[in-house]
Amino acid sequence: MKSANIVPVQHLVTSEQRWRINGHRGGILWLTGLSASGKSTLALELERRLVLVERRAYVLDGDSIRGGLSSDLGFCAADRNENIRRVGEVAALFARAGIICITAFISPFHADRDRVRAAAPGLFHEIWVKADLEVCERRDPKGLYVKARDGEIPDFTGISSPYEEPKSPELIIETNRMSIEDCVDRLVTYAEETFSLRG
Ligand code: ADX
Repeated sequence: MKSANIVPVQHLVTSEQRWRINGHRGGILWLTGLSASGKSTLALELERRLVLVERRAYVLDGDSIRGGLSSDLGFCAADRNENIRRVGEVAALFARAGIICITAFISPFHADRDRVRAAAPGLFHEIWVKADLEVCERRDPKGLYVKARDGEIPDFTGISSPYEEPKSPELIIETNRMSIEDCVDRLVTYAEETFSLRG
């Protein structure tokens, strides 16, 4: 913090009051994985399925956030640190407001993900959307891996910038072993168990 003269407000509404209104708890489902591993596809489908059964869910996605909140940032390590810091803070606000916040960011560094976890105690669920680099490269829906191999995109995750695999994520979804439907079913079940008011 730059200023020492900051006093945070104390809300007069409890989390439990917010949860009761929503019918479920709030929290963060943090999807991490390589580009083209399936994060956005799963996040959007999970959001659709949860809203269908009247859960309050909202997706924050890397490609969209980088057009707004993080439009001043690139892909060097320091910019990725800052991107994930910002998104982590926003996701924590959503979660405290009682929303199920689903995030889809490569978030390649342990330290960045751990910092978000620390900033949102009890609210953060790390979900590794796992697919081998070869599989992601074969999918290459945006043609970015080809460009990265040709040296047109510097610092590309998996090619010229590292992806640090999660050490103890709450959940692993292997998108090259399961169908999209099965992956989404698993995520819906996890969300229902995690954010239920029962238990
Ligand atoms: S993160 O590393 O800071 O978490 P983020 O998820 O926001 O990345 O953005 C990743 C998206 O940006 C990718 O899906 C891809 O479309 C695009 N992108 C552009 N340049 C790069 C790059 N050098 N490395 C990875 N993704 C990139």
